[in-house]
Amino acid sequence: MEKKILEIKNLTKTYGELTALNSFSLSLEKGEILGLLGPNGAGKTTMISILSGIVKDFSGTVTFKNENLFSNRELKNYMGIVPQDMAFYEDLNAMENLMFWGGLYNLPNSTLKKRAAQLLELVELGTRAKEPIKNFSGGMKRRLNIAIGLIHNPELLLLDEPTVGIDVQAKVNILDIIKNVGEQGTAVIFTTHQLAEVEQICSRIVIMDKGTLLAQGTMDELIRIVGGKEMVDVEGEFSANHFSEIIKNQNHQGIEILSVSDNLANLAFDNTDLIPSMMEQLFKNQIVVSDLKIKSPNLEAVFLKLTGRSLRD
Ligand SMILES: Nc1ncnc2c1ncn2[C@@H]1O[C@H](COP(=O)(O)OP(=O)(O)OP(=O)(O)O)[C@@H](O)[C@H]1O
Ligand SMILES: [Mg+2]
Repeated sequence: MEKKILEIKNLTKTYGELTALNSFSLSLEKGEILGLLGPNGAGKTTMISILSGIVKDFSGTVTFKNENLFSNRELKNYMGIVPQDMAFYEDLNAMENLMFWGGLYNLPNSTLKKRAAQLLELVELGTRAKEPIKNFSGGMKRRLNIAIGLIHNPELLLLDEPTVGIDVQAKVNILDIIKNVGEQGTAVIFTTHQLAEVEQICSRIVIMDKGTLLAQGTMDELIRIVGGKEMVDVEGEFSANHFSEIIKNQNHQGIEILSVSDNLANLAFDNTDLIPSMMEQLFKNQIVVSDLKIKSPNLEAVFLKLTGRSLRD
């Protein structure tokens, strides 16, 4: 049985001078939960929007269920999309909204009703099915939006930043739902800025920046990129330039700067025995260190190494 459901090859999208996606390639298997991780402007929404048919005039190919996604309109019926901005009727209740959106797929009414009820349970809105949406919290609306994306039982679900702007409990809820969806065999791609989210639920992670795929793999595979090193965060009173000059000029072999900004540097050490001599050099150069943290290799360090930027915005 063919396991591959999606194959994206060399997707490139430009806006004038700007390359929003740069020869981006990716493939996905059934039931995989893929986290697309990237800072602001990385090209995540562009990627999702091309797949959902909103963004056009690109180059590259997308094969979905072994067919060219853009040559067969029927294929869209196997894809569920959960955009960041939610689209429903505020005066209708949750059940009515699901029935309305499901109605667009020509499902028999009885099937639709059954499916809507199941989905409302899945997203934990079963007891609120008859309430108008306008009474819902942000987290509840987001959950309903996921149910709408799933109403036609798609084989691939795309979610663009499903956890932005909702409280912590609601986020946990949504991650559980996504995990559940994956376990039922639906392939999932979701975009996020949050490392913790991809750590929790993704079978595979893609790190992208400036339209380019920088790395992909399981959590363990990605962490090997900085494997065998110790992560050291240094906080103090320094400028980014001054700090990197000192580290570079002292020819500190075994110390790599992953990223540096004013007052904060993220470093990778071959060996923490090198810390005292670095501290001495910083001190000699009148740099006051206020905090120093040693961490084991983690996804954040991988991200810093690849992008030179922190994900926190
Ligand atoms: N319609 C447009 N016209 C011009 N530039 C655009 C357009 N849409 C996106 N861009 C640019 O393309 C790049 C990628 O944007 P995109 O929205 O895909 O990033 P993103 O990873 O989703 O970012 P965020 O995390 O902020 O949502 C950005 O530099 C953005 O400014
Ligand atoms: Mg976006």
